[in-house]
Amino acid sequence: MATMKAVRFHTYGSSDVLIYEDAPKPEPTAGEVLVKVHATSVNPIDWKIRAGHMKGFREYPLPFILGWDVSGVIESVGSGVTAFKPGHEVYGRPDAARNGAYAEYIAVKESELVPKPRSLDHIHSAAIPLAGLTAWQALFDTAGLTAGQKVLVHAAAGGVGHLAIQFAKIKNLYVAGTASGRNQEYLKQLGCDLPINYQTTRFEDVVHDFDAVIESMGGDVRSRSWKVLKKGGILVALIGPPPSEEDSKSHGVRATIIWGQMDAAQLTEIGLLADSGRVKPEIAAVFPLRDAAKAHEMSETEHVRGKIVLQVV
Ligand SMILES: NC(=O)c1ccc[n+]([C@@H]2O[C@H](COP(=O)([O-])OP(=O)(O)OC[C@H]3O[C@@H](n4cnc5c(N)ncnc54)[C@H](OP(=O)(O)O)[C@@H]3O)[C@@H](O)[C@H]2O)c1
Repeated sequence: MATMKAVRFHTYGSSDVLIYEDAPKPEPTAGEVLVKVHATSVNPIDWKIRAGHMKGFREYPLPFILGWDVSGVIESVGSGVTAFKPGHEVYGRPDAARNGAYAEYIAVKESELVPKPRSLDHIHSAAIPLAGLTAWQALFDTAGLTAGQKVLVHAAAGGVGHLAIQFAKIKNLYVAGTASGRNQEYLKQLGCDLPINYQTTRFEDVVHDFDAVIESMGGDVRSRSWKVLKKGGILVALIGPPPSEEDSKSHGVRATIIWGQMDAAQLTEIGLLADSGRVKPEIAAVFPLRDAAKAHEMSETEHVRGKIVLQVV
């Protein structure tokens, strides 16, 4: 059996369950392609799965390979694949139910990939798909925001937030964002109209009558977010539990939770925006694949600016 290097976990637990080892090299079945992974990125869902926090939602076959972002080169294609040929540079958001991209190779459906942005390297491309698609879908598909409307983005300097701010400004929204003091200047550079330092200012004191809140913190941040919305506005939650219907009704607003999905048209559009220089993924750190445990420890601080990337090639 052909093997490859991968980072897998055999039991749930702290970062030291992540092991760099030999694993079976996948083979693409009909409609799939084999991608030689150049880079993948770390999303908080990775360490939540690894720690066992998501056990109630989905069973993962152990040992399991994490990683829902991929940027790489097509190695081979399965039968019926028409969009790609060996040598094509691609990026995408693989299906989270299957082995992911913390590996030298990943087999993915061709529909889960699009051509990589030409002007970005694999490191920057790998930073985009999961966080970018989630931000895009929250702002435009779910909240349905259009030019001139107002949105509050929580955790605005994080993986999802820093892309959400950039997308919101491209679509001419007015955007407020929360971050600590050290990220206030960074939010301004992203184009954020109203950066809010959560260490010194309660966001609900300065944000009123907004059309939408992109809420990725939960707890107290969620419960204080209702009052910044205008009647009929919408809170889009990115983490569970789903927002309470009772709370949304009592504030005269709407609320929902979303899980970002692969969307080829949207990921292509985001790639073109990156190529035009209007979207810039921020890279907080790059770790070699074998140091995935260190990358998880950094992500678990929950104070990363932008994205952490794992370099494979
Ligand atoms: N539903 C989905 O499909 C989906 C998709 C992606 C992510 N998510 C979830 O959404 C959350 C954010 O994801 P992410 O990738 O953006 O995470 P991330 O990159 O780890 O977020 C880190 C950011 O959070 C900020 N932060 C920490 N505490 C904060 C607070 N009290 N108020 C405001 N900002 C604060 C930090 O800013 P400072 O350092 O300045 O504090 C940091 O920049 C995670 O829970 C993740 O699991 C859900």
